[in-house]
Amino acid sequence: MGKPVLRIVDVWKSYGELEVLKGVSFELMEQEVKVIFGPSGSGKSTLLRCINMLDPPDQGEVYLSEQNLMEPGINLNIMRANIGMVFQHFNLFAHLRAINNVSIGLRRVKGVSKEEARSKALKALNQVKMAEWADHYPAQLSGGQQQRIGIARALVMEPDVILFDEPTSALDPELIGEVLQVMLELAKTGTTMIVVTHEMGFAGAVASEMLFLGNGVIIERGTPQHFFASPKSDRVKTFLKQLDILYGSHKGLLKLSKEEEDK
Ligand SMILES: Nc1ncnc2c1ncn2[C@@H]1O[C@H](COP(=O)(O)OP(=O)(O)O)[C@@H](O)[C@H]1O
Ligand SMILES: [Mg+2]
Repeated sequence: MGKPVLRIVDVWKSYGELEVLKGVSFELMEQEVKVIFGPSGSGKSTLLRCINMLDPPDQGEVYLSEQNLMEPGINLNIMRANIGMVFQHFNLFAHLRAINNVSIGLRRVKGVSKEEARSKALKALNQVKMAEWADHYPAQLSGGQQQRIGIARALVMEPDVILFDEPTSALDPELIGEVLQVMLELAKTGTTMIVVTHEMGFAGAVASEMLFLGNGVIIERGTPQHFFASPKSDRVKTFLKQLDILYGSHKGLLKLSKEEEDK
């Protein structure tokens, strides 16, 4: 698996009196997929924002390829271009066509020529099966299509890692599959990613490790098999039971993904 792409060391973050992250540490290796899950308000989004320094930690360290992002004087714009982000609500520019939503980062952040940016954007759109929609505006696309544009926008920058913050939780149920399918393919072709999600089928299929975040700390961590077969903490057990009621049993999906592996 190679070297760590990200190393998060004892990260703390408060908003005023509210302690949101209370000492979170983990490493993410090259080509690894880490799934973070846990109750609403447990600090998942805050953790992602601390990792890409949109909202820097109060305390602790974040290393991207062994470069400490907390070091004073570091050029965060350059570092951030190496951390892709996919948001729950897509955050596309409404006045830009799909292709320009994807190419704008290359143009603005990397200073890539118009032609090259267009050709790279088309390639990224192709990866998420959206090339034929290149000239459409976000409002002309379904939520699932918009999120695939959001993923292409991250991919096109060729970042070291992509952070996904509940990428399917704003989607109608029938649109979730097409987005998860794209993410599965990325995972299988070696994209390094952190995914905040409650899609346990996805987690079971591709996560090397899952972190359960509760009240700003990692309460339990382990493989999907560990969580689905023998979670230790009562909070995790209760949470997984609630997910089961909401989404149906995740065990069947895990079995599916294992059968696929055996092939
Ligand atoms: N910018 C902010 N200012 C104040 N409080 C915040 C801010 N961002 C998040 N919080 C609070 O921090 C807690 C964790 O939020 P968040 O990281 O969004 O949780 P999650 O993504 O797990 O649902 C919540 O109580 C939320 O209200
Ligand atoms: Mg969140």
